[in-house]
Amino acid sequence: MMIRPPTILLAILLFLTVSSCFQTNAAERRIHFSNFGKTTTGETVYRYVLRNNKGIEAVVISYGATLVSIQAPDRNGKMGDLVLGYDTLDGYEKDKSYFGATIGRYGNRIAGGQFALDGVVFHLPTNDGPNCLHGGTRGFNKRVWTGVDHSRDDAYVLELNYTSQDGEEGFPGTLQVKVTYTLPLDRSELQIDYSATTDKDTVVNLTNHSYFNLSGVANSEILSHQLLLHASKFTPVDARLIPTGALQTVEDSPFDFSKPTAIGAHINQDNEQLKFGRGYDHNWVLEKTPNSNVQLAATVFEPSSGRVLEVLTTEPGIQFYSGNFLDGTVRGKDGQLYAHRTGFCLETQHFPDSPNHPNFPSTTLKAGQTYRSTTVFRFSARK
Ligand code: GLA
Repeated sequence: MMIRPPTILLAILLFLTVSSCFQTNAAERRIHFSNFGKTTTGETVYRYVLRNNKGIEAVVISYGATLVSIQAPDRNGKMGDLVLGYDTLDGYEKDKSYFGATIGRYGNRIAGGQFALDGVVFHLPTNDGPNCLHGGTRGFNKRVWTGVDHSRDDAYVLELNYTSQDGEEGFPGTLQVKVTYTLPLDRSELQIDYSATTDKDTVVNLTNHSYFNLSGVANSEILSHQLLLHASKFTPVDARLIPTGALQTVEDSPFDFSKPTAIGAHINQDNEQLKFGRGYDHNWVLEKTPNSNVQLAATVFEPSSGRVLEVLTTEPGIQFYSGNFLDGTVRGKDGQLYAHRTGFCLETQHFPDSPNHPNFPSTTLKAGQTYRSTTVFRFSARK
């Protein structure tokens, strides 16, 4: 049947009205998403793109609630991808470096893969020598999360949900976890909010494991990045990177980043702690004022691009890891082999092995209580 001209005009009018509604009606702001593939066990994984008016673009996948890329401008407005990662789901499924992933149920190490809670000893998988690292053999980074778009008029908001079963990787209690990525329309920052509830007492320590390289040149060393950490103490470790329990001053040591210092300035110094970590792989104790708002924890400046990353958090600690285990065997984005120290992590967290250190801030989450944590990655550029 022929469509008569007046009908076409009406249709165009209707389309224009509807599409203008989409632009002006904040409730219709939507995150672009697409299918990123299926896991080897047949679960569908989605890829979400959040892009704001400042040119910041964050890409997240539902596998591991992983941040796969973040683009921000350098001092000349040139965009660059500032995190290491893979092009395909297969890369993330095989990954052993935790590129961009959400880490849980317990970020970092638990000594001997065990801890006691309410008088009961719990046994976890040991996947880092004798210790449990980053939630065990199949932590939150290897799970498929469910995405919900909660975007509002001033921000793109991606919520990812996961239910960790009672006993999963040895941890007690069914844990309902939410990780929310928020990209404000007019600010150059990505906020990550974590929350969790449990039906039995458990331990929780969630973080994001992005490897940054602010130069935008993925396969270049990060040693000339200048780092400032708002911390006067760190938690020294034993040879297997378990905290001794001490809080040690950074003064007169290669661990002093209280003024901007090149990551490479002292990294090869003859120092037992640096030997244990093969470089930096330690938790700094953040200076906190007693309110629960986010506080500036770290500032990183990359001289060639002028890019600056500020990390703000509600957490008491930050693991600064200088990419020491990257060894040129991991094939990442664009087929590049990521070489030694070509990315660094700033993992906001409670201290490693807290369940076995009563003097550390507690990581216990009681049944019925809500765990909350917030971290902001803020981007800028200067001369
Ligand atoms: C954390 C650990 C490091 C290393 C990386 C992943 O940062 O502290 O020792 O395991 O994760 O390679």
